Amino acid sequence: MIVAIDGPAGAGKSTVSKKVASELGLNFLDTGALYRALAYSLDRIGIPPVPGDKLDEELKKLDVQLSGGAVFVNGADVSKEIRTPHVDNIVSPYSALSQLRAHLLDLQRRQALFGKGVVAEGRDIGSVVFPEADCKIFLTASAEERAMRRYKERLVKGEEPVYEEILSSVKERDRIDSTREAAPLVKPEGAYLLDSSDMTEQQVVDEIVRIALKN
Ligand code: DC
Repeated sequence: MIVAIDGPAGAGKSTVSKKVASELGLNFLDTGALYRALAYSLDRIGIPPVPGDKLDEELKKLDVQLSGGAVFVNGADVSKEIRTPHVDNIVSPYSALSQLRAHLLDLQRRQALFGKGVVAEGRDIGSVVFPEADCKIFLTASAEERAMRRYKERLVKGEEPVYEEILSSVKERDRIDSTREAAPLVKPEGAYLLDSSDMTEQQVVDEIVRIALKN
C-alpha cells in the first residue's frame, strides 16, 4: 500500500504521516529530509543552487541513504544538521532544481518495496513520485497557523523565535515551492483535500487512516 501525503511547509505532514504509518503498519518516508540533506551538503561545500555541470558533478559525489529514521550523506548522519533555521531558508531554491530532484527519485521509489508499503510525505508524492498511490492526501493549513506551529516548536526547543520572521519564511517557501517549474507543489489529481487549521493532530490522523482503509 502506498499513501501519498503532500502539502506546504508546516501543515503537520511529518508528525501525522509517522502516526498514520504506525497505525497502518507501513514504513514512513520523509522526502523533505532528503532535499534538506542535499541542500545542506551542497551549501556546506559552497555549491550554489544553480543548474549546470558543476552541480551534476557534485551531486554524483553525494550518496544519500535512509536508515532507521536517520538520513546519511556519504555515511555521515546529518539528521540534526538538516533541521536548522538556516537549512529552512536555503532548501527551497535547491529543491527547485530538476537535476537535484532526479537524483532523489529512485531512492524514494525504492522505499515502497520494503515491508507492506509506505506512507510518503512531501510536495510531489502523489503527482510525480507515486502517481499510482492507493491513497492521496493534500494536507494544508493557513500560513499563519503553520507559522504559529513552527514558532511553538522552537520555543519548546529553548530557542528565541520571532513569529513574524517565521511567517515570512513560510510564505517565501510556499511561493518558491508552488511556482517552480520542476514538480511544483500542487494538489494531485484525485487527492483528498484536508485543511488541518482547526483540527487536532489525532483528528487528522484518524481521517487519513479512515480514507486509506476505505480505498
Ligand atoms: O517538508 P520539508 O520542510 O522538510 O521540505 C523541505 C524542502 O524540500 C521544501 O522547501 C520543499 C522541498 N521538498 C520538495 O520539493 N519535494 C518533496 N517531495 C519534499 C520536499
